Amino acid sequence: MKKNIAVLPGDGVGPEIINESIRILKKIAEKFHHQFIFTEGLIGSIAIDKTGSPYPKETHRLCLNSGAILFGAIGHPKYDNDPKAKIRPEQGLLEMRRSLDLYANLRPINIFSSLINKSPIKKEVIKNVNFIVVRELTGGIYFGKKGRSKDRKSAFDICKYSKKEIVRVAKIAFNLALKRNKRITVVDKANVLETSRLWRETVQQLAVQYPTVKINFMFIDNASMQIIKNPKQFDIILTENMFGDILTDEASVIAGSIGMLPSASIGNTVSLYEPIHGSYPKAAGCNTANPIGTILSAAMMLDYSFGLKKESKTVINAVEKTLEQGFGTKDIVDKNSLSTSELGNAIISFI
Ligand code: IPM
Ligand code: MG
Repeated sequence: MKKNIAVLPGDGVGPEIINESIRILKKIAEKFHHQFIFTEGLIGSIAIDKTGSPYPKETHRLCLNSGAILFGAIGHPKYDNDPKAKIRPEQGLLEMRRSLDLYANLRPINIFSSLINKSPIKKEVIKNVNFIVVRELTGGIYFGKKGRSKDRKSAFDICKYSKKEIVRVAKIAFNLALKRNKRITVVDKANVLETSRLWRETVQQLAVQYPTVKINFMFIDNASMQIIKNPKQFDIILTENMFGDILTDEASVIAGSIGMLPSASIGNTVSLYEPIHGSYPKAAGCNTANPIGTILSAAMMLDYSFGLKKESKTVINAVEKTLEQGFGTKDIVDKNSLSTSELGNAIISFI
């Protein structure tokens, strides 16, 4: 199989973790006789420095002409401490999600058994946890109108959703549920927010078409407690953009390190694969960041975008074996931790 892959390393540790994913994909191509053609594009802070735009048109064209997108990370501290900056790296990611219509973000949460002692949560609570958060990705408060009053002393961000936006992401969750344990928890704040009430109403109407799927509704405040107290109760969590952002950082504690978690953003065009963590600027260029979230994102790409299930499983198994041998970067291993590239080598050796 021949596939074009757009590679967007982005900022901070992005380039070094992406590099490991590419090496893994090259090994997979060699082993299973595929041809993957990688083309790099600019995004984020580095794109602003080089072109003035956080998501240059050329990058957009590259994405549209590729079979899948592999993305590293975005963000630079020089913008975080400057609330007045007009152009920000994160706008690149948001613009990419919007213009490629990547409306559903799938974030699987589980723990490799060899890392069970790495989570600060008790092992009996997290053992065998396995759920997926389906986060709406192109609507809500992230994309609503925002601004300041004339005197600039007050500000607003509008949270808006249409039924159409809710239905399309909910369908993804329902179809996923059919392949899993057929349970969806819709997380919202319907006791306060009108958008949440629209979500409930819309999902309830849609549920009639999926009689075998069990739906329950949970308020976000309760859900953020339940995710730590009893995460095994979840199969699929379906939620809006901002709640999904916050809940998945929280859920990453279950996996032992935020560096472990992959994600897939899917929609009507090409799909994008990225770790859920940020650009970790302090570690940039140090060859210490955990590449596993990005490598597992590449595994999701093989399965979801290319239908290469065996190849995908091979990557996941290699990660599992590597961890079982006690190998890992310093976020997951206390003694004799490996560098980013050494961990990549170890995983490659198990492919
Ligand atoms: C994420 C990130 C992004 C988000 C940022 C970088 C804009 O936190 O993918 O979870 O908030 O969506
Ligand atoms: Mg986030």
